[in-house]
Amino acid sequence: MVKTLLTLLVASAALFATDGYEIYKKNCMSCHVEIMKKSDALANLQTLKAPPMVEVSGRIKENIIIKDDDDDVHRHIFILFVKDYIENPQIEYSMCNPGAIEKFGTMPKLKNKLSAQEKEAVAEWLYDRYEDVVFE
Ligand code: HEC
Repeated sequence: MVKTLLTLLVASAALFATDGYEIYKKNCMSCHVEIMKKSDALANLQTLKAPPMVEVSGRIKENIIIKDDDDDVHRHIFILFVKDYIENPQIEYSMCNPGAIEKFGTMPKLKNKLSAQEKEAVAEWLYDRYEDVVFE
């Protein structure tokens, strides 16, 4: 009995945890490919609807510079930027290069499609997934 209860508890905890990768697959993958080499991206530009996520993650990480080089602050600012961009994508705030914006257009608003928890989870995933992965 105790064992059954424990199993149930563990199963429901897993059920309620928001998995950033699942959120990505459901809401972002239709436009942003998860991983791709730069040469393949350039060769297949016509079939892409948006920059690959590996590129998005790398560029935002590179562009956000924390003066004292604090990794936790860097990750936090990255997450804030991504959560805001999902709600409110604007050409002025995009870090995409102008050629890509011209090709893809600005990202559509996904404002009411994701809960606050889902936005947080997918933004964290976008940072952590590409921890040691470079778009090259
Ligand atoms: C309908 C297609 C589409 C979907 C779905 C989509 N995006 Fe985008 N996204 C784009 C396009 C196109 C761009 C490039 C233009 C721009 O920066 O707005 C982009 C750009 C971005 C950027 C900014 C990149 C930069 O360099 O500044 C982030 C961050 C981003 N997307 C995150 C997400 C996340 C997270 C999701 C899912 C929750 C998502 N996108 C879903 C089309 C999409």
